[in-house]
Amino acid sequence: MKELLQVDNIKKSFEIKKRLFKSAIEICVIDGVSFKISKKQIFGLIGESGCGKTTIGRLVTKLIEPSSGKMFFNNKNISEMNKNETKEFRKKIGMIFQDPYESLNPRFTIINSVKEPLDIDGRMTKQEKFDCVKNIFKKIGLDTTEYFLNKYPHELSGGQRQRISIARSLIMKPKLIIADEPCSMLDVSIRSDIMNIILKFKQELEMSAIYITHDLSEAKYITDFVAVMYLGKIVETGQTQDIIDDPYHPYTKMLISAIPDIISKFKINISEKIPDPMNIPHGCAFHPRCPYAKEICKRIEPENVNVGEGHLVKCHLF
Ligand SMILES: Nc1ncnc2c1ncn2[C@@H]1O[C@H](COP(=O)(O)OP(=O)(O)OP(=O)(O)O)[C@@H](O)[C@H]1O
Ligand SMILES: [Mg+2]
Repeated sequence: MKELLQVDNIKKSFEIKKRLFKSAIEICVIDGVSFKISKKQIFGLIGESGCGKTTIGRLVTKLIEPSSGKMFFNNKNISEMNKNETKEFRKKIGMIFQDPYESLNPRFTIINSVKEPLDIDGRMTKQEKFDCVKNIFKKIGLDTTEYFLNKYPHELSGGQRQRISIARSLIMKPKLIIADEPCSMLDVSIRSDIMNIILKFKQELEMSAIYITHDLSEAKYITDFVAVMYLGKIVETGQTQDIIDDPYHPYTKMLISAIPDIISKFKINISEKIPDPMNIPHGCAFHPRCPYAKEICKRIEPENVNVGEGHLVKCHLF
């Protein structure tokens, strides 16, 4: 197996209480998701709010365990890793969050935040750690003066904070990063800078990434492959260019029609109402919003159909 990451039919359910004093019910938020990521590949996960993108990121980083299914990192089953293996695995994985406040301790200076993973690792001298931080700051386009390094997160702009949070996630030279909507809180002018930093490190560290976004234009810019998620399932996947040029699933078409420069190609009007994960429709979960839904869509869940090289779609229309 040459893949860096292989995800095989994972499912994740959570127990939730709808009302106080009522018994808990189980909701399935990830339902049979499979994908593979090779070295130096950027894999996009796209879909509306609540479809399960972040949950996949949390499963892959072993922050939570799947209810069923398997995941392999460098051929090693992630769920079966012991304490030491998990520690080593975590060094090879970086996380970039939507809100850099989440990943930066407000009580830590920038230098202390960024070098913390090196402190925990304990293999470098003080000077080596300092040089390592300065080196990565230069590559990311951050100030390396002592004045800047000793600032606190609240003294920085959103773009600077996100760059610092990226520096922290890359400091251990990870083989895979999970970037969870890293640009969604940033000004449009900074978004391409952030994506270019990820692309630069993809080359330099031979790193792969899971890039989570609800914005297909970002996915178009940065990803090699993309998976479109709807209510916990991948409904269409393939090479990004293929999916954008020739989408099959009505839901993918709807997402594409939201990209301003190709709006005239696909004009598909679908209700904006985001479905309730506690009430997943029978058959194809998208059928209540789909303008092309047929009788079969209400009753039977579609299987994956191969419509081209590695281009899979779950839809009865094909
Ligand atoms: N710990 C949890 N307990 C119960 N439900 C959860 C838990 N974590 C996530 N969920 C539910 O799982 C579903 C998927 O959540 P997730 O955060 O993965 O969505 P998302 O695609 O990342 O959405 P967004 O674009 O808004 O970030 C949601 O319905 C959410 O309410
Ligand atoms: Mg999310």
